[in-house]
Amino acid sequence: MANVVVVGAQWGDEGKGKIVDWLSERADVVARFQGGHNAGHTLVIDGTIYKLNALPSGVVRGGKLSVIGNGVVLDPWHLVKEIETIRGQGVEVTPETLMVAENTPLILPFHGELDRAREGQNAMAKIGTTGRGIGPCYEDKVGRRVIRVADLADDATLELRVDRALVHHNALRAGLGLPEIDRDALLASLREIAPEILKYAAPVWKVLNEKRRAGNRILFEGAQGALLDIDFGTYPFVTSSNTIAGQAATGTGIGPGSIDFVLGIVKAYTTRVGEGPFPTELDDADGERLGTRGREFGTVTGRKRRCGWFDAVLVRQTCATSGMNGIALTKLDVLDGFETLKVCVGYDLDGERLDHLPTAADQQARCTPVYEELPGWQESTEGARSWADLPANAIKYVRRVEELIDCPVALLSTSPERDDTILVTDPFAD
Ligand code: GDP
Ligand code: IMO
Ligand code: MG
Repeated sequence: MANVVVVGAQWGDEGKGKIVDWLSERADVVARFQGGHNAGHTLVIDGTIYKLNALPSGVVRGGKLSVIGNGVVLDPWHLVKEIETIRGQGVEVTPETLMVAENTPLILPFHGELDRAREGQNAMAKIGTTGRGIGPCYEDKVGRRVIRVADLADDATLELRVDRALVHHNALRAGLGLPEIDRDALLASLREIAPEILKYAAPVWKVLNEKRRAGNRILFEGAQGALLDIDFGTYPFVTSSNTIAGQAATGTGIGPGSIDFVLGIVKAYTTRVGEGPFPTELDDADGERLGTRGREFGTVTGRKRRCGWFDAVLVRQTCATSGMNGIALTKLDVLDGFETLKVCVGYDLDGERLDHLPTAADQQARCTPVYEELPGWQESTEGARSWADLPANAIKYVRRVEELIDCPVALLSTSPERDDTILVTDPFAD
């Protein structure tokens, strides 16, 4: 039995939601293991659009267990709203179909306020955060002052945890010119939301290990992308969690040896939301065309995504740091109609040729891409469901991408619709 990890191989929004939904037909459990509701995963099923932030993308299929692991940071009020919205679309969510790890940290309203207050300070470099409190909540987790799901079950513990957090946050807020937190109001709203969350609470590590032993297939759904990883991303323009495949183990409590296949989701070009380096970014008509054809607007914030050519150097690097066994190449259809396509195959740094992105921020900023040109295709690939439907130049492009990133294509996606997908290698195959 195979367990599969899906991770974004670029700066997020590669199409993880669509691919996880498609693969979840073959899985019994779908588990999120990091990030929070900064994620925006889009599924399109027979023309109906589902937008998920905190819920795993497997939730839309009946008969699967959806899991929110301890590596996630969870806004309880957002989760309740998201469940209501998805129920309104006819999806069933019950304690039998959704589990939340008892050791999951909670995002509280002051985390989002802190995100936004810091971003508003002119003296500090802007990250372009979604402002949803993800970073400040992870800081509290590592600082050993976060409130976790299990703390909601006992009032005395909850008060103790809140007081511990407030000592730190009120001091910080005074420095930022923010008002003190209203302790009683915060406790009251936590007491009110507690039963709504506790009904889904479970020892996820135990459940997943039992499921694994029983031969169930687990699909781990990553959020963000490997270039937003706190260690291996374009620091400090990153998110506050490990987004690479190794996190699937620590973010759920399953051993790393239980992971059989790592699937990287790769967009056929490159996009980025928010600030930070982007060597192949296009500021011209080609960039506009990618953005328009690809409908590149953020799911969470509505911001226009920055667009550029495919960067094989970066994806080769992320295939290495996540140990990808294969990739799903998405949005190939967006490249239809280009005369010529460019692919970045190296960088020039002060006259020297590099085969990877250097770590130092000043060097990253000075890297200029070295391009290889490939012929485009005029035929439509939109909705293609087999290799035979693809024009020869599209196949050449895919083959060249595989060579350059040193990783084979397992899946190809040719539209937002669930079934417009070409299977090359089944990640769940034994
Ligand atoms: P995620 O965050 O990785 O799940 O990706 P998002 O949902 O934020 O963004 C990907 C967008 O591309 C969504 O609007 C998808 O519906 C759409 N999409 C996914 N795969 C394809 C594809 O193969 N072709 C096209 N044209 N759109 C796609
Ligand atoms: P999915 O799962 C794209 C970006 C933000 C910002 C930086 C830090 O949909 O691929 P944060 O809110 O984490 O403090 O923001 O990371 N970012 C994403 N970009 N897709 C995402 O998620 C993202 N989640 C965060 O734009 O630059
Ligand atoms: Mg997204």
